[in-house]
Amino acid sequence: MTQQAGKPFLYVVVCAAGIAADVGELIGAAQRRGWEVGVIATPVAMNGFFDTAAVETRTGRPVRSAWRTPGDPRPFPPPDAVVVAPATFNTVNKWAAGLADTLAVATLCEASGLGVPVAALPCVADALSAHPAYQESLIRLRGMGVRFGEPYSGEDRDTARFPWERGLDLVSR
Ligand SMILES: Cc1cc2nc3c(=O)[nH]c(=O)nc-3n(C[C@H](O)[C@H](O)[C@H](O)COP(=O)(O)O)c2cc1C
Repeated sequence: MTQQAGKPFLYVVVCAAGIAADVGELIGAAQRRGWEVGVIATPVAMNGFFDTAAVETRTGRPVRSAWRTPGDPRPFPPPDAVVVAPATFNTVNKWAAGLADTLAVATLCEASGLGVPVAALPCVADALSAHPAYQESLIRLRGMGVRFGEPYSGEDRDTARFPWERGLDLVSR
């Protein structure tokens, strides 16, 4: 599928957090702001964390989770920006450590080197975010230029909305 003429291309990387069920909010907001969107999900996120068929209908592209076969064309154009939302404890730590064992983490590892804006909206419980490895990961990724949204634990979802549009603000700044 070809890129829509003139539109910047946003990679939305989706991890396996419960809030991923609402990722359509981010995709819709991005499209209203003029982005074309391609979604890359972790293998665990593909396992029932969000409605992949609805996302494919909304973006007009397959949700990617596995590497293409050598010789196949790249399914997405290069990104103009990357938003990882929700970002899990697991993916943030692997990203910071450079452990590119999923297409999602490999995409994140590569993004900073491409020089495009990268934003992360973590959804990590307070007990997990207290882990020193996670705090060190945040410092390392910030040092690489990654722009983080405010901490969100997912523990008070009735009162605190996940800040989907903040990811778009951060890459547009
Ligand atoms: C229903 C459910 C909700 C979860 N929510 C979160 C979450 O909000 N944040 C998080 O870091 N992990 C969460 N997890 C755990 C992750 O799914 C798990 O660590 C997984 O290995 C993450 O894989 P990924 O980072 O490759 O997507 C949740 C697991 C389940 C089963």
